[in-house]
Amino acid sequence: MSATLATASSAVSTLYRIVVYLFLQVVPKSEAKWLIPILYILYVATSYFSTPLFNRVAVVKEEIVAVQEEKPEENGDIVTDVAVVETTAVVSVPEPLDWKSALSTVIFSVPSPVRALRLANLAINTILLFAVIEFLAVPYFDDASGVVYTRVGALTPDAAKIVVRYPPSANSTENLVRLSYRQVKSSPQAWREGPIANLTAENDWVQTVRLTGLWPTTTYEYRFEDVNDANITVLPYPAEPIRFRTFPDSRLHSGSHFRFIASSCMTPNFPYAPLQARRIKGLDLLADYLWPSKPEAISSSSPLVSSLSESVSSTVEAAATTSIASSENTTSPAPASDVIPPVAATAVEKPAPPTEFMVFMGDFIYADVPVYFGNDIEAYRRLYRRNYNSPSFRKVYERLPIFHTYDDHEIINNFVGQGNSSQEPFPNAADAFSLYNANANYDSPAEGQYYYDFRYGDAAFFVLDTRRYRSDITSEDPTTHTMLGDQQLGALYNWLGKVNNTAVFKFIVTSVPFTSLWTHDALTDSWAGFPVEKATLLSALQSVPNVILLSGDRHEFAAIEYESGDHGHNVLEISTSPMSMFYVPFIRTLRPRSEEVVNKTVEEVLVAEDGTKEVLQYVVEVPKEKVIKYIGEGNYKWSSIEVDTRDPQHPVVRVEIMIDGKPAYHLEVLGKPVKLQISTSIGALVPQSFKGMLDKIGIKPSKWF
Ligand SMILES: *[C@@H]1O[C@H](CO)[C@@H](O)[C@H](O)[C@H]1NC(C)=O
Ligand SMILES: *[C@@H]1O[C@H](CO)[C@@H](O)[C@H](O)[C@H]1NC(C)=O
Ligand SMILES: *[C@@H]1O[C@H](CO)[C@@H](O)[C@H](O)[C@H]1NC(C)=O
Ligand SMILES: *[C@@H]1O[C@H](CO)[C@@H](O)[C@H](O)[C@H]1NC(C)=O
Ligand SMILES: *[C@@H]1O[C@H](CO)[C@@H](O)[C@H](O)[C@H]1NC(C)=O
Ligand SMILES: *[C@@H]1O[C@H](CO)[C@@H](O)[C@H](O)[C@H]1NC(C)=O
Ligand SMILES: *[C@@H]1O[C@H](CO)[C@@H](O)[C@H](O)[C@H]1NC(C)=O
Repeated sequence: MSATLATASSAVSTLYRIVVYLFLQVVPKSEAKWLIPILYILYVATSYFSTPLFNRVAVVKEEIVAVQEEKPEENGDIVTDVAVVETTAVVSVPEPLDWKSALSTVIFSVPSPVRALRLANLAINTILLFAVIEFLAVPYFDDASGVVYTRVGALTPDAAKIVVRYPPSANSTENLVRLSYRQVKSSPQAWREGPIANLTAENDWVQTVRLTGLWPTTTYEYRFEDVNDANITVLPYPAEPIRFRTFPDSRLHSGSHFRFIASSCMTPNFPYAPLQARRIKGLDLLADYLWPSKPEAISSSSPLVSSLSESVSSTVEAAATTSIASSENTTSPAPASDVIPPVAATAVEKPAPPTEFMVFMGDFIYADVPVYFGNDIEAYRRLYRRNYNSPSFRKVYERLPIFHTYDDHEIINNFVGQGNSSQEPFPNAADAFSLYNANANYDSPAEGQYYYDFRYGDAAFFVLDTRRYRSDITSEDPTTHTMLGDQQLGALYNWLGKVNNTAVFKFIVTSVPFTSLWTHDALTDSWAGFPVEKATLLSALQSVPNVILLSGDRHEFAAIEYESGDHGHNVLEISTSPMSMFYVPFIRTLRPRSEEVVNKTVEEVLVAEDGTKEVLQYVVEVPKEKVIKYIGEGNYKWSSIEVDTRDPQHPVVRVEIMIDGKPAYHLEVLGKPVKLQISTSIGALVPQSFKGMLDKIGIKPSKWF
C-alpha cells in the first residue's frame, strides 16, 4: 500500500514538474492553471501518506533513544523531544549518504528515508508553485496604473501623432498637458506651443494628439509642459526631449532607402524567469539590434554591419547584389573572378539605412492567455499599461514609431466579429486598443475603423482589420463568407488601384496569414477559411507588381510565394512571429506547397551538336503557393525589411530575419521597375475591367471610386 503510494507520489511529482516546466518555459496553455494546483495537492497528499513525515520521525526517534542512552546527561522527557529533531540530523549525517539515490530522490521524487531530502522535494515543488502564481498573478497586481509614457505613432511628411499618458500627481479630475516642440538643428531653436492633451480618468489618462504644420524629412523633438501652472514648467518626463523624423514627401520620385521592423505577438516575461515580470526579452534584443550600445558592439564591427555582410555572403542572389552595389557608384571595381569577397567588402562600407518604424501585427496583449481576467474595461486597459510600463518596451517605443493592428488576443482567442461591434467582448477590448494603440495609427479612410493605409516615400502600406468583419464560417453560406467585410474590401481594392502605378513596393499587413498552407486551427482562423474572398483578392494582387504580404500570428517564420503562372506578378508573403512569446517545439504545421496548381510556361534552350539553338516551350503545373523558407524555432523573432528603390530599374527589398537576436535568414526580393505616375483622380487609375471583377463578387465599386 505504502509502496504503491510512494510510486504514485513520485509519478505525480514528476508529472507536476514537467507540467510546470512546459507551462512556464514552453507554451503557457490556459488549462495548466488548473492542472498545476491539482497536481501539487495530489503530490503533497500522496507523499504525506506514503512516507509520512511524522511517522518517520517516530521511527527515527527510536534509534535516537539508543543514541541518547549513550549520552545520559541529555535526558529529560520534554527536552528529549526537542533534542530528537536536532539529533536526527546529526544521526542521519554519518549514514553513508548515497549521492546517486539522493539525486534520484531530488530529481524524480523517489521516496527516501532521509527527511531532509523529502523536505527538499517539498520545497522545490512549492517554489515551483510560487513561480506559477507569480507568473499568473502579476498582471493583476502590477496594474501599472501610474505609468507615464509617450510614444510617436503615425508620421506623414507634415504631421505626427503623439501619445501621452500622464496621470495627475494630485487628486484631480483632469490633467492638462501641453506638448511643446522644436526642430533639431545645430543652433538651439525656440520651443513652440503644440496641442494640449486633456487627460481624464475616463480615458485612463492617455491621449493621442496631432502635431501639424511640420516639414518633411525633418527631425523634431518634443517635451511636455504643465498647463495648470501660470509659468511654464517643464514636466519631469521625458527627462530628455523625445525625437522623431517626419516622413519624406512621397511626391518626390527620387527613390527610397529605409528599413522597418515587422513582428507580432508578445507577452511580458515569457519564457518565465523569476522576478522579471516587466521584462519583454524580445524587445531588449530588438533595442540592442537597432541601437547597439555595448562597447564591444561599437568597436571593430557593429552587429548591424557584420550581419549585413553575412547577409550578402549567405544570400544565393549574391550576383544580383553585386550589380546593385556597383550601380551605387561607391564601390571599388569588382573583379569578376571572385564574387563573394568584394560584395561583402562593399556591404561593410555601405551604411545600413535608418529604421523608420515598426509594424506590430497584433497579439500585443494576451487578454486570455494564460488567464482571462474578464471582459471589463479595466482588465483590458491594465494589460496595455503593463506593456508600456515595461523597461524593455520603453527602450523601443521612445525611439521608434510603432503602427499597430490587432489580432484575436487583443479581444479573445480566435475572435470572429461578424461586423457586430456590440458583440462581447469587442466593445471594451476595442476601447483599450483605441486608447493605447489604434488612435496613434493613421486615420482610416472610413470613420471609426481600424484599417488604414500610409506611405513612406514610394512604398505604400495597407494595414487590414481581419477580426471585426470576418464572418462565422461554421454557420453561414460559404459563398458569403468574408474576412474583411464589404466596406474594407472596397477600400483595399481602391487602394490597390491607386498604388498600382504610384508606388514601387506595396505592403499589405494582415494579422493572420494569407497562405492556406498552415494547418490546424489556421485552417479556419487564417485566410484559408475564406477561400472565395482570398482567391479573388489574390488575382487582384497578382495584377499589381511588387506586392508583399506581411503577417504574424503563427509563432513561426515563413516566406511563401504565390505563383501567378503566365499572367501577372508573383506575390510574396513574409510571416514573422513571435516578437516575445512561445513557439511550439517539434510539431511543424506548415505544408511545403499547395495542391492547387497553376499552369506556367517554361522555356528550355536546347543546343544541338552543330551549335544551333532551339527554344522549347512547354506548360507545366506549379503549386499555387509554395514555401521558400520555414523556421519554427525561436521565442524572439522579427523581420527587418530594407526597401531600396534608389535605382528605378532595380528596386529591391532585403529581408533579414532575426531569431533570438541573431540573423537567421536573408531574402532578397528583386522588384519589377514601376513607372510612377502622379495620382490625380483615384477612380481614373482603376481599370474598368477591374470594376467588373468587383461587381462579380457583389461589391459596388461606384460606392468608393
Ligand atoms: C481623492 O478623491 C477621492 C474621491 O473623490 C477621495 O475619496 C479622496 O479622499 C481624495 N484624496 C485626497 C488626498 O484628496
Ligand atoms: C477635459 O475633458 C473633460 C471630460 O471630457 C471636460 O469636462 C473638460 O471640460 C475638458 N477640459 C478642457 C480644458 O478641455
Ligand atoms: C512665475 O515666475 C515669476 C518670475 O520668475 C514669479 O515671480 C512668480 O511667482 C511665478 N508664478 C508662479 C505661479 O509660479
Ligand atoms: C561616379 O559618379 C561620378 C559623378 O556622378 C562620375 O563622374 C564617375 O565617373 C562615377 N564613377 C563610376 C565608377 O561610375
Ligand atoms: C450584435 O450583438 C448584440 C450582442 O450580442 C446583439 O444583441 C445584437 O442583436 C447583434 N446585432 C446584430 C445585427 O446581429
Ligand atoms: C494594375 O495595373 C495593371 C496595368 O496597368 C492593370 O492591368 C491591373 O488591372 C491593375 N490592377 C489593379 C488592381 O488596379
Ligand atoms: C492547365 O492546362 C491544361 C491544358 O492546357 C488544363 O487542362 C488545365 O485545366 C490547366 N490547369 C490550370 C490550373 O489552369
